[in-house]
Amino acid sequence: MQLLLLQLVFPFFVLFCSFKNGNAGITSTFIRSEWPSVDIPLDNEVFAVPKGHNAPQQVHITQGDYDGKAVIISWVTADEPGSSKIQYGTSEKKYQLTAEGTVSNYTFYKYKSGYIHHCLVDGLESDTKYYYKIGSDDSSREFWFQTPPEINPDVPYKFGIIGDLGQTYNSLSTLEHYMQSGAQAVLFLGDLSYADRYQYTDVGLRWDTWGRFVERTTAYQPWIWSAGNHEIEYMPYMGEVVPFKSFLQRYTTPYLASKSSSPLWYAIRCASAHIIVLSSYSPFVKYTPQWMWLAEEFKRVDREKTPWLIILMHVPLYNSNEAHYMEGESMRVVFESWFIHYKVDVVFAGHVHAYERSYRFSNIHYNITSGNRYPVPDKSSPVYITVGDGGNQEGLAGRFTDPQPDYSAFREASYGHSTLEIKNRTHAFYHWNRNDDGKKVPTDSFILHNQYWSSNSRRRKLKKHYLRSVVGEMTT
Ligand SMILES: *[C@@H]1O[C@H](CO)[C@@H](O)[C@H](O)[C@H]1NC(C)=O
Ligand SMILES: *[C@@H]1O[C@H](CO)[C@@H](O)[C@H](O)[C@H]1NC(C)=O
Ligand SMILES: *[C@@H]1O[C@H](CO)[C@@H](O)[C@H](O)[C@H]1NC(C)=O
Ligand SMILES: [Fe+2]
Repeated sequence: MQLLLLQLVFPFFVLFCSFKNGNAGITSTFIRSEWPSVDIPLDNEVFAVPKGHNAPQQVHITQGDYDGKAVIISWVTADEPGSSKIQYGTSEKKYQLTAEGTVSNYTFYKYKSGYIHHCLVDGLESDTKYYYKIGSDDSSREFWFQTPPEINPDVPYKFGIIGDLGQTYNSLSTLEHYMQSGAQAVLFLGDLSYADRYQYTDVGLRWDTWGRFVERTTAYQPWIWSAGNHEIEYMPYMGEVVPFKSFLQRYTTPYLASKSSSPLWYAIRCASAHIIVLSSYSPFVKYTPQWMWLAEEFKRVDREKTPWLIILMHVPLYNSNEAHYMEGESMRVVFESWFIHYKVDVVFAGHVHAYERSYRFSNIHYNITSGNRYPVPDKSSPVYITVGDGGNQEGLAGRFTDPQPDYSAFREASYGHSTLEIKNRTHAFYHWNRNDDGKKVPTDSFILHNQYWSSNSRRRKLKKHYLRSVVGEMTT
């Protein structure tokens, strides 16, 4: 018992940073593990099944189209298929509109899923609060969501960033802190439930508990999904060999709207951001569907309409943690030069259960006949940020490579989440918030300057534009 206490308490006292010379990065040796990395027991209230026969549960929404005028609402009914209808409207309890969805079910080993409903609700007004109701009898449930503002280069919007969440007490702490952040949508970086840490029928059960666990936020705002290795669920000993089976049944994405051929990679536009979701665990080398799609999607990006270009993926391309070291290298070799060419603002990844942020560095000059194999400072490169610290049962990845590489700006092995608060076309405020003693502690933050609009010629153009509009206002 004493030993356990020591193990729990000791890391909390370690708090000093090692600084290096010049522009060198910071390795924070603060490690905040908060609670033991075990899943919350099944009978805990965070997994409570809503009351009533066949009551809708595991409610979650995601953006339903390219530009944010639609949502996909998903839920599960446990006892019978029930209705796939959504009633909705812009005032509470008054639902003038309806939408009809689909229902499906699947088996995983001997687990039989509940009835999984997906309903597209489209033709929505921008920047509007909608109320919605699922089910029609006395076990119906009501929620609400707010649509994003219309696509506009200067419209503010606040995203939350969460990865590798799981269903432990640390996961709950991350969720609760995120919900205080005031962010309007989550960019989720893959590894949702960690149900694949279980066996046989428990895998499906832990997908269900996770769906109920995150409903407190996923029912009210869109979560933009990307898939991680824990979604693959290749489990031949149970006869389950179809990759991403549970994930794809339960979580949908609006992939057709961006002309993608798979729900695992796609893009959306939201407010002033163009968000591209990539799949680390689907083929991506030259000529594969994902590669061909991305080549086209980059051409569709219009920084005059959506100045912010954000990429989500599971496996980080720049990672100086010993955990998952070099796993992103193959994708880096294939895609990094495009990220530089298209001036991507920021690349978010998960997978490594720690936090790390890079400086603007690139490593695109290396080839197998040249010797230029070191990342170099590059003003055109994105910032790479790993936020794999949602709090799952595998625990923290506390061993960073020593010395800290030049590209690494800040790294710390603690649980938490990030927010990206876009202010206008040139400025966004970024924060990483550590979960600390039940408090949310802003730990790493900086102002992100837009990569496209920060070029001198565009800045001059922008000044002229504002001058004109001010003069315009004065003369009319
Ligand atoms: C889906 O549900 C129906 C009706 O309850 C059931 O007959 C069928 O076996 C289920 N299918 C799967 C794949 O579990
Ligand atoms: C390999 O890299 C070197 C140095 O950057 C460059 O000069 C050369 O053209 C590259 N080779 C090919 C085949 O791209
Ligand atoms: C953009 O936002 C930043 C940060 O709030 C502010 O300093 C800047 O003046 C804004 N730019 C314009 C053109 O409004
Ligand atoms: Fe992972």
